[in-house]
Amino acid sequence: MIPMEQYENSAAYLRDRLPFIPDTALVLGSGLGALAEEAEGAVRLPYASIPGFPRSTVASHAGVLTAGSLAGRRVLLFSGRFHYYEGYSAETVAYYVRVLKMLGVRTLILTNAAGGVNEGYRVGDLMLIADQMQFGADSPARGEERPLFGPRFFDMTRVYSPRLRELARRCAKENGIAVQEGVYFYMPGPQFETPAEIRAIRLLGGDAVGMSTVMEATAAAQCGLEVLGLSCITNLAAGMVPDAAISDEEVNIHAAEASERFGSLLKAVLAAL
Ligand code: HPA
Repeated sequence: MIPMEQYENSAAYLRDRLPFIPDTALVLGSGLGALAEEAEGAVRLPYASIPGFPRSTVASHAGVLTAGSLAGRRVLLFSGRFHYYEGYSAETVAYYVRVLKMLGVRTLILTNAAGGVNEGYRVGDLMLIADQMQFGADSPARGEERPLFGPRFFDMTRVYSPRLRELARRCAKENGIAVQEGVYFYMPGPQFETPAEIRAIRLLGGDAVGMSTVMEATAAAQCGLEVLGLSCITNLAAGMVPDAAISDEEVNIHAAEASERFGSLLKAVLAAL
């Protein structure tokens, strides 16, 4: 397990270096990192400069923490996150969530790129995460009990805040942005899924599939952060388009194409919080 001292060192450094500690943090997934460049009055800290912080090893993830204002609201923006497929433990993947808890942040907005599993979804759709599913993947809560990060056994019936989902639906409507709402199914990757796996995921009730988010949302549920999750459907999942192969290029291209719309929705949500 990660020593408590490491969490404390990260939190102490951030308390010292950040110009403010806002209520809200926003995690920018694949292809969405550019939103951080719009932050006003920004202070930027590379993850590598934060004591105890893991490094982001994925090319499309910058690995920078930005403190600034977006849509008139102070926010912490994480450009890049940590994935289990990079070789990190579930605890490391969720490390920053617990640091946010220590800092006093209360709301966590998680975004990601995902494959569409629901046959009604199209590339470019935005999906509010209503719930998540993962079977057999590691939990960030496994191990020694740490009361600071919440109880050993904890409720997962409302991981994705009904209040924030309602607020996001309203913001989407007011801005003429269509949103789907569905279940995010976690797969550990880094390989994309097989068509057989996607058929199984659909039978189980997954609407979108991806390789991130659930460990962070689980740690947030344990320590009592309010979570909003948003996926950008960057491709239809394996086997859904005859003869098509899935690639990270395709994921990044479609994430970039949707990024302006995604950014508008996120800014509307921030303004309405
Ligand atoms: N599968 C898993 N993760 C993903 C996908 C996908 O099809 N698209 C974007 N992230």
